[in-house]
Amino acid sequence: MMRRRSRATSVAVLGLSAVLALSACGGARSSGSGGGGGEDQTFTIKFSHVVAPKTPKGQAAEKFKELVEEKSDGKITVDVFPNSELYGDKDELQALQSNSVQVLAPASAKFTTLAPALQVLDLPFLFDSVDDIPKVVSPDTPAGKAIFENQALADNNIKVLGLWDNGLKQLSSNTEMRTPADLQGLSFRIQPSDVLAAQFSAWGANSTPLAFSEVFNALQQGVIDGQENPYSNIESQNMHTVQTNITESNHGYIGYVLVINNDFLNSLPDDLQQVVQDSADEASDYNRKIAAQLNQDAKKTIEDAGTTQILKLTDQERQAFKDAVVPAVWDQYRDVIDSDLIDSLLAQK
Ligand code: SIN
Repeated sequence: MMRRRSRATSVAVLGLSAVLALSACGGARSSGSGGGGGEDQTFTIKFSHVVAPKTPKGQAAEKFKELVEEKSDGKITVDVFPNSELYGDKDELQALQSNSVQVLAPASAKFTTLAPALQVLDLPFLFDSVDDIPKVVSPDTPAGKAIFENQALADNNIKVLGLWDNGLKQLSSNTEMRTPADLQGLSFRIQPSDVLAAQFSAWGANSTPLAFSEVFNALQQGVIDGQENPYSNIESQNMHTVQTNITESNHGYIGYVLVINNDFLNSLPDDLQQVVQDSADEASDYNRKIAAQLNQDAKKTIEDAGTTQILKLTDQERQAFKDAVVPAVWDQYRDVIDSDLIDSLLAQK
């Protein structure tokens, strides 16, 4: 899954970027050679994310750190900040663009304002099981290529390094949800994605975008009735302790787009740029190997806690949720996502 790094950057731009990174943004620090790009120059990557360290993203971020530090012989240090402790959903993309942080892995939905086409990964029922994920979300698939080549990201100085999985989303609330009619009038927290708002609307439910770090309190205080997430996010945020019901619907996907500030990347010497990309590739493989198991483990923890009834939909019950949104919601977002891509994804169903 090697991806080639960009070689388009001129020496002059490299020099300017390095100076900018050194002087203004703190992404790199010189250890002796004075910013002239000497061999003993060292760099720091801040990697901020919003989930717990034990989740598929948290574990892959730690793997990326380990690989970059090892492969660069300590020339690059990666500081990982989990749990929105440095930046949260509302400010992390801005922090990336200003190089206050160098690497992020937001869920695709978090890019909606900046790069709305990434909502392709939010399409409901894009997958029927976790086994389908690699066929759709890999760097060489149509959806993967559309993300790697997204022009809006490039225009905003953001380079895609990889695609990471969490897994398939389940519904949680304080009421049994066996049919779309059971969701009527309930209010669900969503990520800031128009596709997700349309999905809940098609099921007769209301939706409210909220930052991930605010979800537990909003559920606990009854500001919202429910939410959707993979088991690993539900369990690691203790959402199950304030939700009596989970419906195992596997109705949507949470996947991450591993991104880096492009000027920062280009300010690194060539060999270190390759280290970053190689480490991203290996961390992506690692993430895909562990994600499904971590979600299974989290489900078991929720079952053992005994706080929450987990309802597994029959195929027929799941089909009723699906019929309400496929292809209606997909068709609604053809212009935003890309009509040909929608057709190719529908053809795989
Ligand atoms: C994440 O997994 O990064 C957050 C997902 C969410 O906001 O629900």
